Amino acid sequence: MNKIELYQELSNQVEALTTDEPDIIANMANISALLFEHLSQVNWVGFYRLMNNELVLGPFQGKVACIRIPVGTGVCGTAVSENKTQRIADVHSFSGHIACDATSNAEIVIPLRINEQVIAILDIDSTELDRFDEEDQKGLEAIIKLFQNIIIKHGVLN
Ligand code: SME
Repeated sequence: MNKIELYQELSNQVEALTTDEPDIIANMANISALLFEHLSQVNWVGFYRLMNNELVLGPFQGKVACIRIPVGTGVCGTAVSENKTQRIADVHSFSGHIACDATSNAEIVIPLRINEQVIAILDIDSTELDRFDEEDQKGLEAIIKLFQNIIIKHGVLN
């Protein structure tokens, strides 16, 4: 299976898992577990929710992580302040990177937006340098877009 097929398959599974479930936390938990199981060389997958201008740890798979990240700090906080995906080939060269797991070498962070406001981010760490390419970014952004639409469809933000 190539990457495009993998992300299409993951997208189908995210849709099947979330389409009838309005609880955002439950859906974040299953999306984290699904991506953690199916993406190679990945050591952390999870969500942070934006609460009072601070990112707060949400459902995840991997080692214990820092609980609160101010907007503008680290890779995650930068994704919020710049309102844009951060795809980092080598986290050690990212000034301000927050090392939750010392074995992480690459990272991708994707903002989740409702009504053009960032409400959460998806964060994925890898032990492999330069793990995430443009196809990973496109595939993961498509999954987050799908999740945004599911949240909007359910009309519940909790
Ligand atoms: N590395 C992130 C912090 C979160 S952990 O990777 C789970 C950052 O620099 O924002």
